[in-house]
Amino acid sequence: MNVCISVGHSHPRVVAAAMAQAQELTHCTTMFYHPAPAHLAEELAATMPKGHDWVVHFTNSGSEAIDLAMTMARTYSGNLDLLALRTAYHGPTAAAQSITGIAGWRHPGMPGNVAFVPEPNQYRGIFGPGTQPYLDEIDRTIATATTGKVAGIVVESIQGYGGVIEMPPGYMAGAAERVRAAGGLYIADEVQSGFGRTGDHFWAFEADGVVPDIVVMAKGLGNGFPIGAVVARKEVAAPMADKFLFHTYGANPTSCAAGRAVLAVIEDEGLQANAKRVGAALLERLLDLQTRHPSIGDVRGRGLMLGIELVKDRDSKTPDREKTAAVFESCRAQGLILSKSGPSQSCLRMVPPMCLSLEDVEAVATGFETAFRATS
Ligand SMILES: Cc1ncc(COP(=O)(O)O)c(C=O)c1O
Repeated sequence: MNVCISVGHSHPRVVAAAMAQAQELTHCTTMFYHPAPAHLAEELAATMPKGHDWVVHFTNSGSEAIDLAMTMARTYSGNLDLLALRTAYHGPTAAAQSITGIAGWRHPGMPGNVAFVPEPNQYRGIFGPGTQPYLDEIDRTIATATTGKVAGIVVESIQGYGGVIEMPPGYMAGAAERVRAAGGLYIADEVQSGFGRTGDHFWAFEADGVVPDIVVMAKGLGNGFPIGAVVARKEVAAPMADKFLFHTYGANPTSCAAGRAVLAVIEDEGLQANAKRVGAALLERLLDLQTRHPSIGDVRGRGLMLGIELVKDRDSKTPDREKTAAVFESCRAQGLILSKSGPSQSCLRMVPPMCLSLEDVEAVATGFETAFRATS
């Protein structure tokens, strides 16, 4: 279950496209024109909300794309302070760590000028369920923990390593409104939630009708080939043109050829619709599992981005890290690969290839049943 593998391990069309490109010209930087990144940029821009001009810059990874988005927001707005969400994960580079809200991923030496707002976790968030209290906190944070002017806010449309935390209705749009009123931009991190994985939409931010100023993507775009991208509104990216910025392997033609094939496969094989259908079936099985196993405190997610949170008891909601690790290991022994996520590593996160079938769902449900029985 690997979020990088959007269309299936070693998908023949993706492998063939990358091989053909590698045999012709493996490497070429953005300093020179090459059709593969140019076409991929056009294809990605076409997936963005209509009515705006979008520009695309390719990077080597998701965290480099996050770094660029942060620099872009600070350059465009002229403000330094950025808002990020607690329990967010945005990558390992120093800048990406500075907006990551999980202690286990933060190391000494990160840059500052970041203020964190509470994640609107509907299961265990500090204000309980709902949207408004979390939006009010954005205003309070801007008023107290920044200069009053911000560069932007970075939001994973569904938090991944945070433990599959969905943004409740109105949160993304409300956050964008508040941050824009303070001079900043709305940056959507779609590294995990994008490319149709959530089923209803190609980009998870679309669920809220918000139009981001910058969208960051990686992982599933390459189906295992290294690639990241920043897609920004043209006027937002324009001030960056005053200086040089390039990544040696950004816009690498081999990775871009793979990326183009990924987009084509998602379309041709109807993988967004498949994520919706198969994800709904898996969610149903997980909810059924919850009725029989009291250690499952919460089941959540959308499409093929799902999680179950394990607790010591449902009233206290105390995270059960040990049980989570035991279920994880039992599943792994059966060939079912999950991720231990969340600040307490008490959420089993499922982000399988979007070609998962209904038969696979049965195997996953059986694997879980065996694991929960073996560990109870
Ligand atoms: C939501 C999110 N943003 C950014 C990143 C960083 O991407 P990369 O590991 O390609 O640098 C990740 C990686 O897991 C991620 O999950």
